Amino acid sequence: MVKNLLITGGAGFIGSNFIRYVLREHLDWEAVNLDKLTYAGNLMNLEDVADNPRYKFVKGDIADPALVDRLFAKETFDAVVNFAAESHVDRSILDVGPFIETNVKGVQVLLEAARKHNLERFLQISTDEVYGSLGEEGVFTEGSRLLPNSPYAASKAAADMLSRAYHKAYGLPIIITRSSNNYGPYQFPEKLISLMIRNALNSKELPIYGEGQQIRDWLYVEDNCRAIDLVLQSGRIGEVYNIGGGCEKKNIDVVKQICSILEKKLEQSAGLSTPVSKLSDLMTFIDDPRGVAHDFRYALNCSKITEELGWKPEYDFEKGLEQTIEWYLENQDLVENVISGEYQAYYKKLYGA
Ligand code: NAD
Ligand code: TYD
Repeated sequence: MVKNLLITGGAGFIGSNFIRYVLREHLDWEAVNLDKLTYAGNLMNLEDVADNPRYKFVKGDIADPALVDRLFAKETFDAVVNFAAESHVDRSILDVGPFIETNVKGVQVLLEAARKHNLERFLQISTDEVYGSLGEEGVFTEGSRLLPNSPYAASKAAADMLSRAYHKAYGLPIIITRSSNNYGPYQFPEKLISLMIRNALNSKELPIYGEGQQIRDWLYVEDNCRAIDLVLQSGRIGEVYNIGGGCEKKNIDVVKQICSILEKKLEQSAGLSTPVSKLSDLMTFIDDPRGVAHDFRYALNCSKITEELGWKPEYDFEKGLEQTIEWYLENQDLVENVISGEYQAYYKKLYGA
């Protein structure tokens, strides 16, 4: 039974939601959060749990073998959940190096420490992007071939393969989850949904790549946390579990829905009887920065986790998106504070002035 958990990358989007989730759901569990605090990691995401006696933060790099070994020797972890990663496709196309360093070397360092210290469970958090892209038809199963198209996806596929090899070669008890696109509170405003909400709130252009026809399967982060928790407790060692939202949407439709929910909320909060200016006028179609590496569609068959562990998503998109938008409305200061000068430079590089 899990008691003392090492959660890496816990200051980022999914990791911070997961830490909050386990501290709330398992009152006898303790969690150590190892995070390098890159541009995407911020302790403000965890302010509400910072004083919890069952939670501890350690600043450090998963690719630093000495630090990781010291940490494993000091704490007796039962399990690792590895969220730490460079996680953004567009950044991976601009600069591959950090993706190999963290997503490949960092994972190997963690696997090695887990082997040396006889860990009971190692959960590698992966992505559906390792399977590559689908056309209009079909879905990926856990047995689908790995055909990654972006440097990000390739680095995550390499980590999956390394995890598998540590299981086969050394009997390390690894499990892999591959989820679809997450959305929800605390997401750094560089991914589609978080970026569009922030831009709309600041009356900035809403940059849609190409014609916005690509399709993603959206998963509310709380549903993913529940799935990861179930896999951690009851998943079978050596297995892969797909976790999808069962909610396929074209990018353009997602952006339109964000605009329409936000328009209503802004009108209500201002008590206006006439509509606020149309946010969808901010939509701008830009040359696709991903070019041929832009995956057209992702979709997952999740019958394995449903049949084995009884999981299915609870949030429909409308409800999850409303809750997400409300969170961004209530936390505009936090979102603006986590954005650094680095973000401004990245934004300018990708989207132009
Ligand atoms: P994120 O970018 O919001 O957070 C990543 C966290 O990892 C940050 O806190 C960062 O500081 C930390 N980190 C980065 N490099 C590190 C290093 N070398 N050592 C220690 N910490 C480091 O990412 P996210 O969206 O929360 O994604 C978490 C995991 O889930 C990633 O492994 C990602 O590949 C996977 N995933 C994400 C999605 C999604 O839609 N966001 C979907 C499927 C899978
Ligand atoms: P993203 O949120 O970066 O996730 P991923 O590429 O990992 O699926 O992008 C989701 C989709 O939205 C993808 O097809 C690219 C598109 N997109 C835009 O059109 N504009 C944007 O500003 C961003 C960040 C993404």
